[in-house]
Amino acid sequence: MPISFGVTSQTIDRARADLLAVPVFADRVLGPGADVVDRALGGRLAGFMEDVGFAGKPDETLTVPTLGSTVAPAAVLVGLGEPAALTPDVLRRAAASVARRANHARSVVTSLLAAGDLAPGVAAQALAEGFVLGAYRFVEYKSDRGVSKLARVTLAGGRGAETRAGLDRGAVVAGAVSWARDMVNEPSGAKSPAEFAAAARRLLAGKGVTVTVMSEAELRAQKMGGVLGVGQGSTRPPRFVKVVYQPRGARGPGTLALVGKGVVFDSGGLSLKTASGMETMKTDMSGAAAVLAAMSALQALKVRHRVVAYAPMVENMPSGSAIRPGDVLRMRNGTTVEVLNTDAEGRLILADALALAVSQRADAIVDVATLTGACVVALGEKVAGIMGDPSPWVEQVRAAADRAGEPMWPLPLPGDYRKLLDSEVADLRNISTGGYGGALTAGLFLQSFVGDVPWAHLDIAGPARAAADDGELTRGGTGFAVRTLLELASTFEAPVRPNGRPRPRTAKRRS
Ligand code: BES
Ligand code: MN
Ligand code: ZN
Repeated sequence: MPISFGVTSQTIDRARADLLAVPVFADRVLGPGADVVDRALGGRLAGFMEDVGFAGKPDETLTVPTLGSTVAPAAVLVGLGEPAALTPDVLRRAAASVARRANHARSVVTSLLAAGDLAPGVAAQALAEGFVLGAYRFVEYKSDRGVSKLARVTLAGGRGAETRAGLDRGAVVAGAVSWARDMVNEPSGAKSPAEFAAAARRLLAGKGVTVTVMSEAELRAQKMGGVLGVGQGSTRPPRFVKVVYQPRGARGPGTLALVGKGVVFDSGGLSLKTASGMETMKTDMSGAAAVLAAMSALQALKVRHRVVAYAPMVENMPSGSAIRPGDVLRMRNGTTVEVLNTDAEGRLILADALALAVSQRADAIVDVATLTGACVVALGEKVAGIMGDPSPWVEQVRAAADRAGEPMWPLPLPGDYRKLLDSEVADLRNISTGGYGGALTAGLFLQSFVGDVPWAHLDIAGPARAAADDGELTRGGTGFAVRTLLELASTFEAPVRPNGRPRPRTAKRRS
């Protein structure tokens, strides 16, 4: 059940709910509203916190009975750490902890909004995201559906329309993230490319966008050699979903293109993965899920630019019809690729999608992909790699990620490494010679399909899934990058080209 959010300008002692959530700062300094809990405990809150070792650090929570209070029968104390270090990320995590702690509570009232001096809209958005994402569960296949009962969250001490708008934004963003999580968590057996495409159509109906789904025959007509090549080993044929958001009175000429890797299952193909390497490979469509989820929220967020999404969907399987190491594929833009490792499949389908975005006059591109294990080795499971060119565009994307609270770190695209992708027989090989720097050589491979269009590449192989609940993340698919893409689309500034002139609009390009 979706959570509905309310705001009241009243102080918390006038409110009534199943659960009260109040902030406590570092060293047990009571935040706004915590006095209500102290009174319910007969003034013994400080001693109690000390006895049980609750210090008020971020991510700490403590549930206490407040039976004497008229507000709620129980309260959660939420640690926020140092007041000076209070960021939207801290609030988002705090709200998620409350949602996780809420167990059977149907309604929560909280004074978290009044903690710190963030802009009310920003704080409210982070809180709404935290409540929805912390309460998220994937229970589709659980006999015992331990689903969250949380239906109503009221923010006390709310100030004006900004708070309401922030809450609405947060709920929309978190709804999109939840859809991406659902798709990632869905087992591969239940999400063939065709089924994934159909789910995208259902999501996007009535969201102010136009959806086109290319069948296998259309992929052939469109010369999508990478998508067809990777897909040819599966009995479930590939699809390619294109989504156009064209707001009325779009501001400026800028078109933002979003490209997402949609490998519904990555067995590695004939270059087969190990059994354990395959365990999480239903996650390999997280990039496509993220861009499609983002498209579903553009209208609600009143994005004023044109945004186009490209999501190639394939299943990478070994079979008598699969591509073989050594085979050569001709990509959509004519580039030929020698496939030496069929497990480096993401870049093959992205090559076609990037080339299509370029030919359809994107002014800036972001691609999102669970592309390399090497990126996980480099940055771990929580931080995405960000690469691209030119740097002001990459910086624009990275700044959006920072504001959205999704950790990303820049990796280089060394021109020197480009020769590691030289093939004996084709224009490119799909893996580098020598095994090092795999995230960078994958980035360099993609770069050869974007021409001179400003482009940023997000390698989300690590953060696309979480091994355990953590802050707003729940175990399994995380919906990583949705928040960044929505923040980016909302603030998008079309990059200026190096020559200072806008991209030519009349040049005839192959569509
Ligand atoms: N989908 C994988 C990357 C991946 C690995 C994502 C681990 C999440 C966790 C990708 O298709 C892949 O297999 N990449 C290979 C590339 C190699 C063959 C050059 C890899 O990283 O091992
Ligand atoms: Mn692979
Ligand atoms: Zn893959």
